[in-house]
Amino acid sequence: MLRYTPTHKGFLLAIEGPDGAGKSTLRNWLNEWFQSHGITAVLTREPGGTPEAEMIRQDILRERGPHEEPVCAMTQTLKFMAARAQHVEVLLKPRLANGELVITDRFCDSTFAYQSQEGVPLGKLRVMHDVVFDNFKPDLTILLDGDPTVFRDRMAERGQDSLNFYDLKPMSFHQQSRKVYRECAWMDGNRYAIIDAEQGFEQVQAQLIPHLMDIDAWLRQRPRHEA
Ligand code: TYD
Repeated sequence: MLRYTPTHKGFLLAIEGPDGAGKSTLRNWLNEWFQSHGITAVLTREPGGTPEAEMIRQDILRERGPHEEPVCAMTQTLKFMAARAQHVEVLLKPRLANGELVITDRFCDSTFAYQSQEGVPLGKLRVMHDVVFDNFKPDLTILLDGDPTVFRDRMAERGQDSLNFYDLKPMSFHQQSRKVYRECAWMDGNRYAIIDAEQGFEQVQAQLIPHLMDIDAWLRQRPRHEA
């Protein structure tokens, strides 16, 4: 029995959490898990996922010199949403309408968690999301939760050298983002799997298996084609 009510013909699975929590590793593992169950997932990410959205991503994450015009918080927010609008219309909706499983590395909760710390009130971000995307949301969001300092230490251990400017924000920024992530999950509990990601990857996998079995069962029994 599925714990959540999918709103799409396919299934949209989002992975959220702080930088360094292991989202990419998890996405690859999920892909393999579904593959071994005979399901080919579409893997994507935000910002990005389509050529146009990837161009917006490049602009968002490009390093800016100290003398360049600063990007204000609302502009940054609108860029993330512009990339998302393209991603939703060009990739997500058609794939989901086709009954496919789509796994995205980040979605709207990243905007809530990060842009609320850049100066756009959370309430306003939620209203903006509702206006732009109507009720479009993931069927399940896996929140990789944990202390951002732990994740930052992990990133340092891995010697990650391609840090973006969000990775370099002060720890207080990431602590606050974590709070917002958790609030999102508590507000809409059925659509979230909050996973303790401070544990080893094997424990993370074990926490997720019941959810994956549910999704697998759902994808098998759902009506595949319109009559
Ligand atoms: P990326 O290199 O993809 O980071 P990560 O590997 O941690 O996902 O860069 C994306 C950055 O953009 C990431 O630090 C979080 C940030 N971000 C936002 O601030 N708002 C958003 O809506 C999204 C999707 C990402």
